[in-house]
Amino acid sequence: MRITVTVDGVAYTDEVEPRTLLVHHLRERLGKTGTVVGCDTSNCGACTVHLDGRSVKSCSVLAVQAHGREVTTVEGLATDGRLHPVQRAFHENHALQCGFCTPGMIMQAIDLLADNPDPDEDEVRHGLEGNLCRCTGYQNIVRAVRDAAARTRAGGAG
Ligand code: FES
Ligand code: FES
Repeated sequence: MRITVTVDGVAYTDEVEPRTLLVHHLRERLGKTGTVVGCDTSNCGACTVHLDGRSVKSCSVLAVQAHGREVTTVEGLATDGRLHPVQRAFHENHALQCGFCTPGMIMQAIDLLADNPDPDEDEVRHGLEGNLCRCTGYQNIVRAVRDAAARTRAGGAG
């Protein structure tokens, strides 16, 4: 099937098999390897991207379902060489170790903050419960999300 998907602001038209998962299309056809596969079974959240501005696990979406829609990956967040505030907060709060979960965590955190600009710790943990991290114990991830929220509310770009 022929699909056109806008990814990180660029429209791509490709032939795909109907069974192709969005995450595989992003990585293997479009080279968007910043989006990673942790489980392939919708459990880990590592593959989280935004589809029309809302987070989805891209291993649970077919590429054909993204036809005519906009996908944002972690690679599309920085603007003019400046990290997104959530990326910056993860960096400054040491919210990663191996980094494998980080792209999905960041995409999910942005979606969470769009719904709730001032989440408390429990709300952050609840919002990120579909994203697994094997390294950090989550403490610094929660801290980073709340830090990003505070900076954004203060009007800073990070
Ligand atoms: S790879 Fe998609 S949820 Fe784990
Ligand atoms: S930093 Fe390694 S899985 Fe989260």
